[in-house]
Amino acid sequence: MTRILRAYPDELETQSVREGIALAGRILKEGGLVAFPTETVYGLGANALDADACRRIYAAKGRPSDNPLIVHIADIADLERAAVRIPASARMLAEKFWPGPLTIILHRNADIPDATTGSLPTVAVRFPSHPTAMAMIRAGGGLIAAPSANRSGRPSPTKAAHCIEDLDGRVDMIIDGGEVGIGLESSIIDLTEEIPVLLRPGYVTVPMLREVLGNVEVDQAILGSDARPKAPGMKYRHYAPRGQMVMVEGDERAVAAYINERAGAFSTAGKKTAVLCAAQSAGWYDREHLRVYCLGSREDPEQIAANLFGTLRQCDTDGMEEIFTESFSVGDLSGAIMNRLEKACGHRKIRIPEDGIVDDTGRSERNEDSIGE
Ligand code: TXA
Ligand code: MG
Repeated sequence: MTRILRAYPDELETQSVREGIALAGRILKEGGLVAFPTETVYGLGANALDADACRRIYAAKGRPSDNPLIVHIADIADLERAAVRIPASARMLAEKFWPGPLTIILHRNADIPDATTGSLPTVAVRFPSHPTAMAMIRAGGGLIAAPSANRSGRPSPTKAAHCIEDLDGRVDMIIDGGEVGIGLESSIIDLTEEIPVLLRPGYVTVPMLREVLGNVEVDQAILGSDARPKAPGMKYRHYAPRGQMVMVEGDERAVAAYINERAGAFSTAGKKTAVLCAAQSAGWYDREHLRVYCLGSREDPEQIAANLFGTLRQCDTDGMEEIFTESFSVGDLSGAIMNRLEKACGHRKIRIPEDGIVDDTGRSERNEDSIGE
C-alpha cells in the first residue's frame, strides 16, 4: 500500500507533518521507497547506501539498471560521504548554486554501492532547495538516491498526482509538496574531466556555469550529434507522450497554417489531434480540428518550462493521437526546453521553408532513442 503524506513547505512545522516526515525517514532507513517533491521535478527516493533499496527503485520505475541515480544531500558536509577527490571547482559551484537545480558529477566514494551509480566510477550529487525535500533527506539519513518519480518512458512528474498516476501501489509513500517551481530536471555538470562538461541542460545555464568555472564544454550528444551521451539516461526516449509527436519550425504564421492543414486531414481520418503552442499564437489554430494546449507566453520561458511535462501528460489523459508542437527557442531556458521537446518528439521535426511549401519526404527523422528513463 502507498501512503500519501501532504507536506507543503509551509506545513513542515506542524506536528502531524513532522510525524509524517519522521515516518518517511524510517521507511527510507528500512530500505523503502518514498516519492518526494523537489524544486525541479518529483524524485523517487531510497537510501543511497542500501543497494537493495536502490534496486527497488529500478523495479518500481521499470528503469534499465545501467542508468545511474542522483544522490541527494541536504547538508554540505554529506558531500564527502558521496564523493572523493572533490575539486575546488565543485566547492565554488556548491557555494553559488546549492541548494538548487544543479547536479555535479564527481569521483565516487567507495561507500556508494554499484546499484546506485550503475557501476560507474563516478557519482552524481545534488543538494535540492525544496524545504520538504531537505526535511525528508535529513530524516532518511542524509544520502538519498533518487531519479525522477515517473514510470520509465513517461514525462517527469511536476505534481504529486503525476506520481500517484505512475507509482501508486509500487512505492511505500508519496509526499505531496504541491506543484514544483521549475518543472525541468536539474542541469548536470561533469567535473571529473579536465574541462567541465554539461551533460544535461537545465535551469542553471552554460553562461551561468562559465561565470564560475571559466571554460565549460557541452556534451555533443545534447547538441544533436549522434554521439553517445555521457549521461547514460540521456539516450533514452523519456518525456514522450503516447501519441505521435512532431515539432514544426519556421515562420510562426506559416507553422500555424501548416498545422491547421494537417490537423484537418487527421481529424477527417478520426484522429484526435493536438497542438502545443505559445499564448501569442493560440488564437491562430483551428479549434474545430485541433485541441489547443497553450504552454504560456514566449515572454515568460519559466512558465513554458513549468507547464511542459504536465501538458505532455495531459495529452495522454485526453487520448491525443497526433501531436504537433511549435518550436520554443525562448531566452536562457531555450536549451533546456528544446532538449525535452525534441526528445518527446523522438527528434521528428518539420521545417517550413521560406516559400512555405513543405516537402514532407524531406523531413528530418532520427532513430528514436530507446525507451528507458
Ligand atoms: O532534477 C533532477 O535532477 C531530478 C530530481 C528528482 O532531483 N532527478 C532526475 O533524475 O532527473 P533522473 O534519474 O531522471 O536523471 C538523472 C540523470 C540521468 O540521465 C543519468 O544517466 C545521469 O543523471 N547520471 C547519474 N549519475 C551519473 C554519472 N555518474 N555520470 C553521468 N551521468 C549520470
Ligand atoms: Mg528521469
